[in-house]
Amino acid sequence: MDRNLALELVRVTEAAAMASARFMGRGDEKAADQAAVNAMRSRLNTLYFDGTVVIGEGERDEAPMLYIGEKVGRGEPGPKVDIALDPLEGTTICARGDTNALSCIAIAKEKRFLHAPDTYMQKIAVGPGLKEAIDIQASATENLKEISKIKKCDLQDLTVVILDRPRHADLIDEVRKSGSRIMLIRDGDVSASIATCRPRSGVDVLMGIGGAPEGVLSAAALRCMGGYMEGILKPRNDEEIQRAKKMGISDIHKVWKLDELADGHVMFCATGVTDGPLLNGVRFLPGGATTHSIVMRSETGTIREISARHSFDKKPKY
Ligand code: FBP
Repeated sequence: MDRNLALELVRVTEAAAMASARFMGRGDEKAADQAAVNAMRSRLNTLYFDGTVVIGEGERDEAPMLYIGEKVGRGEPGPKVDIALDPLEGTTICARGDTNALSCIAIAKEKRFLHAPDTYMQKIAVGPGLKEAIDIQASATENLKEISKIKKCDLQDLTVVILDRPRHADLIDEVRKSGSRIMLIRDGDVSASIATCRPRSGVDVLMGIGGAPEGVLSAAALRCMGGYMEGILKPRNDEEIQRAKKMGISDIHKVWKLDELADGHVMFCATGVTDGPLLNGVRFLPGGATTHSIVMRSETGTIREISARHSFDKKPKY
């Protein structure tokens, strides 16, 4: 894949971020998401590739745009790519004007991403050098002990990020008993997974159950940053099990390792919608806006941060 594609992707997430940022704090999740979807789709269709959305906004009958299986890009003779995307990761965050909403996308050659249904996934994610410590089937305490051994620190020095949900009551209780610290987040486990790879984030490991599509996007980012994660699908009902089977997943209890979630040369890009420790949110200025993005490629491990100033008198206003 042409390495410049990674930089083209920034335009896609910048557009989606600016469009949804207009809805920050306006309490309308759907409008914010739709604005991001529309902007992302129209930018994707300017790119020279033959793309198929494999992780998208849902399945065809329930998602008007960027549904799983949707074709995007200008088509042949561009490269055939699979696309995992979330035009607005953190719709509630954006609607509340809270921190850490972002727009993100990942691409790889065909069949390199797990075709995950829109269900839940149990996840454990860590930064570089900790792969050997991780076993999603072991208890939280066992994982934390192994991480602390490799990091040569005490359990009390570790910070676990967990989505603040009632389903995590036992997990939170166990981590507290282990002595490790917890950062409870309201939403946004893609940026939390990425945080495990950024030493200054203060986050050592992400644990708990979040969206399966977000799991694949997190895996794409972690591949680029040298991190590691494992996931197990957690369907809520038989219908979700059947959907997973239709997508080719026969063993619903399978442990998905990083390279089964996202494999090969992966490109990942995210732009901040609202402020967070990873990315600054969109700022609207007279006549334009500023955006802050991160672009990464697994092939080289290069991680770029891109700050951009957009002039609305010279290009479409988002
Ligand atoms: P959305 O942008 O789709 O709202 O996802 C936000 C998010 O917090 C994800 O980061 C996370 O994986 C998922 O929701 C958790 O799902 P739930 O809110 O149902 O617990």
